[in-house]
Amino acid sequence: MMHKITVFLITVFTVTGTMAHSGVTNEDVMKRMMVMSAMGANLQKIGLMLRQKQTFDAPQARLIFEDLQALATKTPVVFKAPASDPKSEADPRIWQEFANFVALSDKLAVAAGHAAQQVKTVDDLRPTLAAVGQTCKACHSQYRN
Ligand code: HEC
Repeated sequence: MMHKITVFLITVFTVTGTMAHSGVTNEDVMKRMMVMSAMGANLQKIGLMLRQKQTFDAPQARLIFEDLQALATKTPVVFKAPASDPKSEADPRIWQEFANFVALSDKLAVAAGHAAQQVKTVDDLRPTLAAVGQTCKACHSQYRN
């Protein structure tokens, strides 16, 4: 079960690592996409360590999760303006249900903070990645089209 979820997440986040935001002209939309891309890049790095394409390094893994935590804290800030762009995948319900959107950002911040504390050995990568990835998915399934 856990294994399936992790493989799914790695696939999703490796694929979405491509430049979905190229050609976006709205500055606010660009800003939030850059925050999201940075999140994707971070998960991808954890995925590389997990698949042993990159050597596991506990301090580095912790830094990656701490960066994710910071990005999660930034998420409500960069999404505050109800900006749109033809290339945006943001569901307009975000701004009707902003409190819920903020709560979902907080869940990621908490999960990433826990992961940063917990990731001590290579065996901790899978559960921490899964726990964090689920909070990404929880928001995307509601607010990303
Ligand atoms: C609180 C909601 C929320 C959370 C949590 C969240 N995302 Fe997103 N994400 C979005 C929305 C909304 C978009 C679409 C933004 C747009 O196109 O304007 C998006 C877009 C993206 C994109 C595409 C960016 C681009 O360049 O177009 C990536 C990659 C991404 N998210 C990765 C992640 C990862 C990885 C996590 C977890 C570590 C995560 N997101 C957590 C809401 C969220």
